[in-house]
Amino acid sequence: MILIGSIERDYKSIFRVNSMESTKILIADDDKKTRDFVTAFLNYKGYQVFQACDGQDALEKIELNEVHLVITDLMMPRVNGLEFVKKLKAMRPEMVIIAYSAFGNFEMTSSLLKAGVFFYLEKPFNLDELETHVKRGLEHQTLQSQSFKTRPSIRNRSRIQNIIGESEKMLSLFELIEKVAASDSTVLIQGESGTGKELVAKAIHDLGSRNNKSFVPVNCAAIPDDLLESELFGHVKGSFTGAIATRLGRFEMADRGTLFLDEIGDMKPNLQVKLLRVLQNKELEPVGATRSKKVDVRIVAATNQNLERLVATKAFREDLYYRLSVIPIMLPPLRERKGDIPLLLDNFMVKFNANRQGKVKGLEKDALNILCHYEWPGNVRELENLVERLCIIKGSGTIAVSDLPEKYVGRRPQASSEPQALPDAGICLNSMVEEFENRLIMQALEKTGGNKKEAATLLNLKRTTLIEKLKKKKLLPGEALTSSR
Ligand SMILES: Nc1ncnc2c1ncn2[C@@H]1O[C@H](COP(=O)(O)OP(=O)(O)OP(=O)(O)O)[C@@H](O)[C@H]1O
Ligand SMILES: [Mg+2]
Repeated sequence: MILIGSIERDYKSIFRVNSMESTKILIADDDKKTRDFVTAFLNYKGYQVFQACDGQDALEKIELNEVHLVITDLMMPRVNGLEFVKKLKAMRPEMVIIAYSAFGNFEMTSSLLKAGVFFYLEKPFNLDELETHVKRGLEHQTLQSQSFKTRPSIRNRSRIQNIIGESEKMLSLFELIEKVAASDSTVLIQGESGTGKELVAKAIHDLGSRNNKSFVPVNCAAIPDDLLESELFGHVKGSFTGAIATRLGRFEMADRGTLFLDEIGDMKPNLQVKLLRVLQNKELEPVGATRSKKVDVRIVAATNQNLERLVATKAFREDLYYRLSVIPIMLPPLRERKGDIPLLLDNFMVKFNANRQGKVKGLEKDALNILCHYEWPGNVRELENLVERLCIIKGSGTIAVSDLPEKYVGRRPQASSEPQALPDAGICLNSMVEEFENRLIMQALEKTGGNKKEAATLLNLKRTTLIEKLKKKKLLPGEALTSSR
């Protein structure tokens, strides 16, 4: 283990210089020995490194060079560490900064974090530890930058341009849509409300050979039961009160095209029988007609109900269920593909910024963080509506936490004591519990101004237990642990 701040040996004998001129890091420290030592280590790990001897020098070098990440000491002449961090963040808000010092305390750590420092290390620190934080910082930066630019490389690979998503689940969905579109089989799309069932149905039509004919949607839940039959199959003049003229049904309108039977789970049993007959015989009888008509329609059905459960309770016919679900497509809820949230936010922001004078530039890190952890019970529809509302109300500038409606802020995992729903994909219990524990400990320390005895009381722990935990978690390493505060 090589420690910075304890031993600084002849670094050239330890590290072979191996700069790949890829990621560019700047190190600011008035101590040349430390600078050279860290530089040699980072070069060896493949990073290109610039050196600065104080904050002022660092700001000038960052102005002139492309720099991706900054590592800085806090005790420096001219512009010192904290001042440097503040100036740098004002100049380059996206910059990832890792700061270190031998004289840290809780107050300093919290003002550094408030100023936007990504991680604070106390001297002496291990170089491997430094590298871990560098990697994490760079990953974080990539995620941040991806949140406000679309990645054409991936989008262009798919012909499905209007369905947003790059998560594994969405990429497999795109593949499935392309395959399904090429066939003529009946499709049953299931998924919670707002997951994009109608978008998927339309994409299947648009990518298939029927795309030069109509895509006709029917919302089975929105049409009164007694009218749905004639809406679907049409009627002849005088067949019932109010049938003042012969009318084409949606099936015929969709002839040689696609009929989208939305909310199919709401269809009443008597109509289910009639629908099944049409699907089997490929011909229908308009209400009041004496002769049947041939139709050539591709059926795509959708529901946000659990059709299998409806079949089990006999609310939905089993034979119709099997007839419809030749190709079943299950859309994932947004909470199971949270990685897509930044991309969705970005795309909807572009959409709702268009045709408006002011432009909302994006979200601040904390606001983005909250939305990325939110459970989105209304799925993409909820997210889309929120972005529209934020763009209209904010008008321009950057969305901050204070701009978010109460329910989003209130549902931050750190503030919630509600039991969370266990996602179908499962969770990593240990890491979630650990993260939860860390947050509560940090909150207790913040509330008590870093006083461990009072923080321990707030957490109903012994002071020594809290210190033990802090030591284990490396939350407050070094000499701070031995202090009586
Ligand atoms: N992956 C996505 N990319 C872009 N927009 C999406 C996506 N998924 C859903 N949307 C948008 O969210 C809204 C709801 O989508 P859609 O109507 O297809 O959902 P749904 O599953 O049919 O919901 P419901 O069951 O309530 O009818 C639409 O405005 C749609 O454009
Ligand atoms: Mg729908």
